[in-house]
Amino acid sequence: ERVSLWGGRFAGGPADALAALSKSTHFDWRLAPYDIAGSRAHARVLHRAGLLDDATLASMLEGLQRLLADVGDGSFAPAPDDEDVHTALERGLIERVGPDVGGRLRAGRSRNDQVATLFRMYLREHARVVAALVLDVVDSLVAQADQHLGVAMPGRTHLQHAQPVLLSHHLLAHAWALLRDVDRWVDWDSRADESPYGSGALAGSSLGLDPVAVATDLGFTRATWNSIDGTASRDFVAEFAFVSAMAAVDISRFAEEVVLWATKEFSFVTLDDSYSTGSSIMPQKKNPDVAELARGKAGRLVGDLTGLLTTLKALPLAYNRDLQEDKEPVFDAVDTLEVLLPAFSGMVATLTFHPERLESLAPQGFSLATDIAEWLVRQGVAFRIAHEVAGACVRACEEREIELWDLSDDELAAISEHLTPQVREVLTVPGSLASRSSQGGTAPDRVREQLERVRQESAKH
Ligand code: ARG
Repeated sequence: ERVSLWGGRFAGGPADALAALSKSTHFDWRLAPYDIAGSRAHARVLHRAGLLDDATLASMLEGLQRLLADVGDGSFAPAPDDEDVHTALERGLIERVGPDVGGRLRAGRSRNDQVATLFRMYLREHARVVAALVLDVVDSLVAQADQHLGVAMPGRTHLQHAQPVLLSHHLLAHAWALLRDVDRWVDWDSRADESPYGSGALAGSSLGLDPVAVATDLGFTRATWNSIDGTASRDFVAEFAFVSAMAAVDISRFAEEVVLWATKEFSFVTLDDSYSTGSSIMPQKKNPDVAELARGKAGRLVGDLTGLLTTLKALPLAYNRDLQEDKEPVFDAVDTLEVLLPAFSGMVATLTFHPERLESLAPQGFSLATDIAEWLVRQGVAFRIAHEVAGACVRACEEREIELWDLSDDELAAISEHLTPQVREVLTVPGSLASRSSQGGTAPDRVREQLERVRQESAKH
């Protein structure tokens, strides 16, 4: 018969179907090292409260140390009858130090405050890992931006040619978004840095245990001020899932561009062989699978966030077993990012850009029309008129299938008396780029300055 943690009140063990439903060791086992760290800290406060003598504490700590090693090398693993990671580890401790010592550890704690603490510890550690991986993507973008300083490309809105911009400017736009995601994890950590250990099942402990001592022991700067909140709240999980989803969504926006840029029609980039795949039937194919998977996995991370928020919605205080459903989505988010991000930064780092192609397209689609209008404004013409004059230039070119710079001086003058030959200074891509010299603009000097800023921001972490 199955043994449980609540033998006293029950005539028999749980039904097989309940045990199967209830079980979580297949996903919460990854919390085992944190659970053991929590147990060590808990043993120390029990000792400090006079509830464990020196010998018992020493034996317990020694047993926990052995248990940790056995978990590490796989010689201790959850058994079919263990409900969750906490149950399994209590069994493991009792097997190592006997029920007299092992059976004392559960005093003054509950799996409710345990799991809320361990989950924070796990996520705090992985927030650092995924943030560092996002910074690797930023580094790849910065390296490409640095290498291609001065290369112009068509800037787009609505996916239509809008105005020429520098390729580096465009790449750095993605870097800024990713730096904000890293900031979000850092900021999240300051809220997650709070230990609920000692909250017990929901009401706190009567045993004179010191939650602040446990918190410090476990690397938290503070203990929770409300034991109900400590055991019931999962906004720290949802927020982590949001930042993960946001980072994946930001990655997916660049991924989509890479997919487009690698097409025959765009021909902006060639993917490195080591970051592209072939086709089993079409010998010529070179597919952008890394970018496509990045795009696809963003959907999956949005799903993780959505599932989690749906679990939390309308859940009454304090702990409810529904909360066991909080782990798989965010573990999935962590695992997905940890496998996606290294591939993505490798793909970005090894992209080969085609500067001539980018530059030749930069002025096409009448992308210098705004330059005519703004040049006119600088000559004192009202923007409403300037916009119309520039529009008339485009119409004239479209009819004759020529570009703006092909208009003769006479043709320009015929469109508007304000269009003197001096307008040609902005009818080139370098002229257009240089003119956009406001902070954050695409002028080469500004982009160089921006590149330094991104480097500084990324070096802060
Ligand atoms: N495994 C549970 C979870 O992940 C913790 C156990 C709490 N169970 C309980 N019956 N109070 O949320």
